[in-house]
Amino acid sequence: MARNNPTFSCTACGSSFNKWSGRCDGCGEWNTIQQDKGISAGPPSKSLGARRGASVTLSDLSTQEAPPPREHSGIGELDRVLGGGLVPASAILVGGDPGIGKSTLLLQAAAQFARAGVSTIYVSGEEASAQVRMRAQRLGLSDAPVRLAAETNLRDILTTLEAERPQLAIIDSIQTMWADNVESAPGSVSQVRAAAHELTSFAKRRGVSVILVGHVTKEGQIAGPRVVEHMVDTVLYFEGERGHQFRILRSVKNRFGPADEIGVFEMTGAGLAEVTNPSALFLSERGQPSPGSVVFAGIEGTRPVLVELQALVAPSPHSQALRTVVGWDSGRLAMILAVLEARCGIPFAGLDVYLNVAGGLKINEPAADLAVAAAILSAREDAALPAETVVFGEISLSGALRPATQTENRLKEAQKLGFTSAIAPAGGKAVGATGLTLNTMSDLTGFVGEIFGAG
Ligand code: TYD
Ligand code: MG
Repeated sequence: MARNNPTFSCTACGSSFNKWSGRCDGCGEWNTIQQDKGISAGPPSKSLGARRGASVTLSDLSTQEAPPPREHSGIGELDRVLGGGLVPASAILVGGDPGIGKSTLLLQAAAQFARAGVSTIYVSGEEASAQVRMRAQRLGLSDAPVRLAAETNLRDILTTLEAERPQLAIIDSIQTMWADNVESAPGSVSQVRAAAHELTSFAKRRGVSVILVGHVTKEGQIAGPRVVEHMVDTVLYFEGERGHQFRILRSVKNRFGPADEIGVFEMTGAGLAEVTNPSALFLSERGQPSPGSVVFAGIEGTRPVLVELQALVAPSPHSQALRTVVGWDSGRLAMILAVLEARCGIPFAGLDVYLNVAGGLKINEPAADLAVAAAILSAREDAALPAETVVFGEISLSGALRPATQTENRLKEAQKLGFTSAIAPAGGKAVGATGLTLNTMSDLTGFVGEIFGAG
């Protein structure tokens, strides 16, 4: 790498530049650009050693012994989100809002991994060991053979890890870590980046798996773990609404498994409990069929999940009508409203539209389009959909309906939960799901005519 060309980065937002300037082009802050100091940059180029960059032939590798098997915590929801257990020597980032339950989850994971025979050390930079022990007691984990350390100095942590050589180290949190070769406050982008770099390269070098905890603010900024995402193998986000007891662990990047997998937990007085049947949970608060409420048969990761969508459409007192969305993409909602107006002649001018995904789940599947359209129309027409019906399918700008992936899995899940009919685009493969009445349509106009009796 070009060691002669110094690089500069902003201590506020992390943007990189190749020259210094007084004001950051990335975030607009003044006096935040600093020259990057090489961290563990290795020997200077004039002493290039023989071992540097030694390469092996791929075919030679395959004759060596098989990679060590994945470790299982026994927390099924966590193991699945990791892609089927913890890969040895991997680096994982667990991000989430402060107070969402990251420390609780990871202390439980640490204890379970330790009980399963994986030597584990939990390093807390936020709480003293005695406080961690108190928390563990409350979670009923005080007998687990997990080791604790309360430390924020990165050098001391690396020394401890080097001496103890655990199989798994949990660092809670990366924002509290402090590298003494970087001149900025703990929690700043340069500190977070330096600490994450040191810890992940230690993980690879020494065969220790590390889990880094990172706080993200609602805006996803402020020395957020965004800068760390590129350095690690797996990025998990722990999400949920503070008022709800459901928590969702979502993989957004995984070198060793499927991304977009979710694990569902419930926050109880004794810590996080696994939810093995999320559909039942998300639908548990559903009452009688009512206008604006539609059950969407979705797929989250490798698993079907049924979830209730709720819409409200009301005359707007504002000069500009509101479109408010919780748990879905607002741009996508605007698109569906535009297609309903343009292709089906149903106007939404002067009407406020609210859409909510029940249970605090965030959906990003395009297959939710038809369910969203159904919820909005049902609210607008004040007419409930037929009872015990699930809806799914993607809507294109022309108003045509496109079949969704994994039609059969969606239908099977609906059947399992006692639904009797489904509305879906024509053309999806639904071989094995028999007990369900399948009502297929090829465009939105046909759907509006059939379900709501008018255009
Ligand atoms: P915590 O794990 O400290 O959050 P984070 O590390 O993400 O900041 O969890 C904080 C919240 O969880 C706190 O408001 C209390 C709640 N909680 C429970 O409801 N039950 C429990 O058993 C525990 C340990 C915490
Ligand atoms: Mg915490």
